[in-house]
Amino acid sequence: MGRKTIIAGNWKMHKTASEAVDLAQALESGLKSDLALLADHLPQIVICPTFVSLGDVAKTLQSGRIALGAQNMDHRDSGAYTGEIAPPMLTAIKVSHVIIGHSERRQYFGETDQSVNLKVKAALAHKLVPILCVGETLEQREANQTDDVVTTQVKGGLADLDANAVSNVVIAYEPVWAIGTGKNCDAQEANRVCGLIRKVFGGMFGESQAQALPVLYGGSVKASTIEEQMQQSDIDGALVGGAALKAEEFLPIIKGGAGRVQARSLAKA
Ligand code: PGA
Repeated sequence: MGRKTIIAGNWKMHKTASEAVDLAQALESGLKSDLALLADHLPQIVICPTFVSLGDVAKTLQSGRIALGAQNMDHRDSGAYTGEIAPPMLTAIKVSHVIIGHSERRQYFGETDQSVNLKVKAALAHKLVPILCVGETLEQREANQTDDVVTTQVKGGLADLDANAVSNVVIAYEPVWAIGTGKNCDAQEANRVCGLIRKVFGGMFGESQAQALPVLYGGSVKASTIEEQMQQSDIDGALVGGAALKAEEFLPIIKGGAGRVQARSLAKA
């Protein structure tokens, strides 16, 4: 399986522009020093600072090892939409990825599968990689609705797309109850749901697209959890919040991703 391994950091509403630049610099130098021996096995690394830090962080990232992502965007190209940010504004400053439909956007900012779908389509139209987030709340899990909720979110978020259009899509399974709570979803259970996501995607777009789809796990990922998560067959990386805010916590997670890249290349050889 030639799937990409991706380690993405969602910085949420943290860090001023200068703090964001400092963290980006610390990550770049960590890759050159602590992780130098893994240079050939690094996962794809994506960092997602706030909108106001993206431009400065873009100028800081010189190694080509770290890609830049936004945490959200509007689906329209321009217009009278006070406070919004359009896809061409992101691509103009070397943003390559965008998180779409994070549970905090769904919960606090009224995003729905319909609005998420418009944003995924806009991202793809602008050659941005959408990291589509799905996941159930605690109540939904306790009511045994996890599989239905995740299936509905994948189908809704990717509605009206065809198989040719979705080869850049990344999906992150983020159980809402595990985000920022320190409660990890058990690795085997996370793997099961990531496998379900792949199956639903395969039903929509075909088996070869499903086998190429990177599915990430997110929710209290830490250095101490990443190794087991990266050993799972259907978990292709991580979307990390709190532990992405300090280089000394995020670098070991990147290292965990590199372990997976290495294991996969050995398995192929
Ligand atoms: P967390 O956040 O790692 O702090 O739980 C993950 C996310 O919201 O993407």
